[in-house]
Amino acid sequence: MSAALDPAEHGFGRRTLREAPRFVRGRGTYVDDVQLPGMLHLAVLRAPVAHARIASIDTTAAQAHPKVKAVVTGADLAERGLAWMPTLSADTQAVLVTDKVRFQGQEVAFVVAEDRYSARDALELIEVEYDVLPPVVDARTALAPGAPLVRDDVEGRTDNLCFEWESGDAAATAAVFERAEVTLAQDMVYPRIHPAPMETCGAVADYDRIDRRLTLWSTSQAPHAHRTLYAVIAGLPEHRIRVISPDVGGGFGNKVPIYPGYLCAIVGSMLTGRPVKWMEDRTENLVSSTFARDYVMRGEIAATRDGRILGLRSQVLADHGAFNAAATPTKYPAGFFGVFTGSYDIEAAHCAVTAVHTNKAPGGVAYACSFRIAEAVYLVERMVDLLARELGIDPVELRRRNFIRPDAFPYTTRTGWVYDSGDYPAAMAEAVRIAGYDELRAEQAERRARGELMGIGVSFFTEAVGAGPRKDMDMAGLGMADGCELRVYPTGKAVVRISVQSQGQGHETTFAQIVSEELGIPVDDVDVVHGDTDLTPFGLGTYGSRSTPVSGAAAVLAARKVREKGRLLASSVLEAAVADMEWADGAYRVKGDPGTAVTIAEVAARAYGARDLPAGPDGEPLEGGLEASVSYNPENLTYPYGAYLCVVDVDPGTGKVAVRRFIAVDDCGTRINEAVVEGQVHRGLTDGVGIALMEYVGYDEDGNCLAGSLMDYLIPTALEVPDWETGATYIASPHHPIGAKGVGESSTVGSPPAVVNAVLDALQPYGVRHADMPLTPGRVWEAMQGNPTPP
Ligand code: CDP
Repeated sequence: MSAALDPAEHGFGRRTLREAPRFVRGRGTYVDDVQLPGMLHLAVLRAPVAHARIASIDTTAAQAHPKVKAVVTGADLAERGLAWMPTLSADTQAVLVTDKVRFQGQEVAFVVAEDRYSARDALELIEVEYDVLPPVVDARTALAPGAPLVRDDVEGRTDNLCFEWESGDAAATAAVFERAEVTLAQDMVYPRIHPAPMETCGAVADYDRIDRRLTLWSTSQAPHAHRTLYAVIAGLPEHRIRVISPDVGGGFGNKVPIYPGYLCAIVGSMLTGRPVKWMEDRTENLVSSTFARDYVMRGEIAATRDGRILGLRSQVLADHGAFNAAATPTKYPAGFFGVFTGSYDIEAAHCAVTAVHTNKAPGGVAYACSFRIAEAVYLVERMVDLLARELGIDPVELRRRNFIRPDAFPYTTRTGWVYDSGDYPAAMAEAVRIAGYDELRAEQAERRARGELMGIGVSFFTEAVGAGPRKDMDMAGLGMADGCELRVYPTGKAVVRISVQSQGQGHETTFAQIVSEELGIPVDDVDVVHGDTDLTPFGLGTYGSRSTPVSGAAAVLAARKVREKGRLLASSVLEAAVADMEWADGAYRVKGDPGTAVTIAEVAARAYGARDLPAGPDGEPLEGGLEASVSYNPENLTYPYGAYLCVVDVDPGTGKVAVRRFIAVDDCGTRINEAVVEGQVHRGLTDGVGIALMEYVGYDEDGNCLAGSLMDYLIPTALEVPDWETGATYIASPHHPIGAKGVGESSTVGSPPAVVNAVLDALQPYGVRHADMPLTPGRVWEAMQGNPTPP
């Protein structure tokens, strides 16, 4: 073996994506591509109103349709004990309505037919009589006396309270606010938005009545957790359920929950004895699958006159819709909102969240963020910007004065999070350098003098990703560990099986790179198996940027176990003492003799070969083969961070915002694949521009969803985003075995406040202090007229 490995072939040097040719040529296999002999098609009848009792359902005409095989209502499911299912947030959700409709688009009945078109036609033959009830649409009125009760299915429930949660020290925070020279408060809304993945949700269920085996292809970000819940809900034996999550066209949190449609497909297959496919259309996805955010927030900040932040306080009203279908660790009903103290070293903090039910679609999921961190980061970064303006201190400078110092890590925040590592001033300095910040401010002054509205927005975020340590985190009672199984074959090729799976973020490349880096095997000689519960170890799945921090660490440790066994075999190949063997530059070598080298391939040949194997540490001959498995329970989350700068131009005549430049410096520790990380950052920045400027799921006063198509729910295209300018710093996580932190969601979290801060900076001449997202031309224009519209 040569002294230096080729970085394009080995380890973390590789920038290309092995799955790219498959996707670029349209050769992916998504759920809707699955075709099974005799397969039937399922369509769901959805409620046209937000709140109504069902007076009657008549399915006679639908049953009589010549191509219909089954029509199922809530009453039919109730007979089998399947009308309700648990959510991933300790609530229960109706699979099909039995008593009353609780949101527009809710599942009322389903039809299974010979083809998709007949199934849809038959839906129109089902006669439902609704007794319409007044809905609760605005979270702000949900707890008012006399508000209609959404969850009368829950015994003893007399109001629409979903949960209350708080964190931090209320008394200490009040004391800090009491003595502070400056205090500021601001109401703001992080509006209801939707992950809107390119592929909608769907499933193909194939139940074999003879073997009592269920195979379910589904758009799932968490196949193992889903399988366990199906076993519990449907009473099927877990070892006879196989969940396959094939290629998935984007998840972003939308595909973490279990949806009624998945269960309907399973029931449909059990009833008919044939495979059944259910695939949402775009409207169904937008109006009925889980939304994100919907936080009405009040932020308060206390500081000294010279810009030292002393305290932060927040009060949140969270709209969870009709069912609490958020997927969040049990101890954290408001997700990780507790990180709202951001990247700053402050004296005291307190936050309180009151969550309510309304007659709107259930949720809310962490859309490309680790459990409510997007809301937390938005709150603190808006408050810091408001403070900068109040004190007349440059927003970059104010942040610098308050950053947690690099030598203060590990740093315990006032709400109890232990940030593992960071050098925030360095990341900020890099963003400022790339942007040419001082020149931009000079240009802004010149343009302002000419009446032009140029804005420069700053944000700095810290994320908490990689949920999570067993001692703190579980989801639906399942610990949040993840696994890896690694097998090296006799010829030195390897297969790594992981419990997380990709929705397009490149795991087939990056997990191979991890093994390659650890074992010196060329990347192309490592295959990655994922997304199939029969073929992979148990784990909680891909969301909250947890793949690299959890399953990635499992892969490293599995490779190191293989390497440790390989050391004994290598010593036998070289006939050298085990104590003299070292691993260097992709091979085992005898210490002091770099010329000797035994590769993993040679060790594998020895492990499977005909010769007797050497003795292991216990004196007995080693077992043959070369494999290892690990279930990794992280000791802490990882804390990626970033410094973002956004430059916008606002048209004074129309209020239209153009994002001219966006500079993003991210630190996710060690990067496995620079190109993949850049791709993740680009995607999230695009999300951020959409969230800040155009995305919004609105409802009218009757609870009709106003975002039922992509003509109404606007998502950004290449036309709305600039060429991203990215940079990096590399502070390794001290507890992750290769120092990597997650990155998949950083930029979705960090970019909205940068865009909003930029727009409000541009609007300074108009004295606009705050306006809520989405900053559409209409809303910006109204703010300029002194009339900001609440969403
Ligand atoms: O859970 P998810 O895969 O969405 O998020 P992630 O762990 O942040 O990883 C997203 C993608 O970026 C994966 O393909 C990772 O392997 C890659 N990544 C990387 O190359 N280096 C890092 N430090 C973090 C992630």
